[in-house]
Amino acid sequence: MLFDTHAHLDDARFDEDRESVIAALPKQGVRLLVNVGADMDSCRTSVSLAEQYDFIYAAVGVHPDETGTLCEKDMETLAEYARRDKVVAIGEIGLDYHNNGAPKEVQRRWFERQLRLAQELSMPFIVHDRDAHADTLAILKECGYFHGVMHCYSGSAQMAREVVQMGMMVSFAGPVTFKNAPKTKEAAKAVPLERLMIETDSPYLSPEPFRGKRNDSSRVRYVAEEIARLKEISFDELARITTENGKRFFRIG
Ligand code: NI
Repeated sequence: MLFDTHAHLDDARFDEDRESVIAALPKQGVRLLVNVGADMDSCRTSVSLAEQYDFIYAAVGVHPDETGTLCEKDMETLAEYARRDKVVAIGEIGLDYHNNGAPKEVQRRWFERQLRLAQELSMPFIVHDRDAHADTLAILKECGYFHGVMHCYSGSAQMAREVVQMGMMVSFAGPVTFKNAPKTKEAAKAVPLERLMIETDSPYLSPEPFRGKRNDSSRVRYVAEEIARLKEISFDELARITTENGKRFFRIG
């Protein structure tokens, strides 16, 4: 049994075949999934997907690229969504200094604001950090609320140890399978088993050997295989531990 802790099945790239992709997942071993919002529209569709399928849960939050048009009223809407049964986290929130879809100060302001929202609601949060490691860490420390996960982790092993020390989880996606990703493999080795989660970030970041193709949640298996290899444990053991970690973190079941 596998738990894809981060997917975007609401994405337009699934418009043609979403139902059949989702229907196939339990047979492919994916028994739990968190569909993650990235803007106000995808938060709404995430919630409705979660309400439609037993094994899908939702996270609601606004990705740094999409923070340019946010307002305080949107935080009320997120808080309303967050009170629904199947909504288990605030996310994805954070900083993206690679895309720079919004000015850095705007990204920082809404990262802090949504972190505070998670704290007020006592909910877990999901962090997107791309090329913004120092500012991400600084904001997390300043907020002082650490029931969070670093999603699609791309930092160093040292930073991974630091966020684990703070009490956070670390989640790995397709890039950990890439041959040219020794740093990410080192980071996966550095994270204690009880703090690890796995994800696809579908439709993005297909693992080897599907790099560049549309990703879907069934491929979380390839992430699990690679991390099991790095940790020198069996696939079944890694699947069991990461599923338990995800359930504990998101307070499912
Ligand atoms: Ni994502």
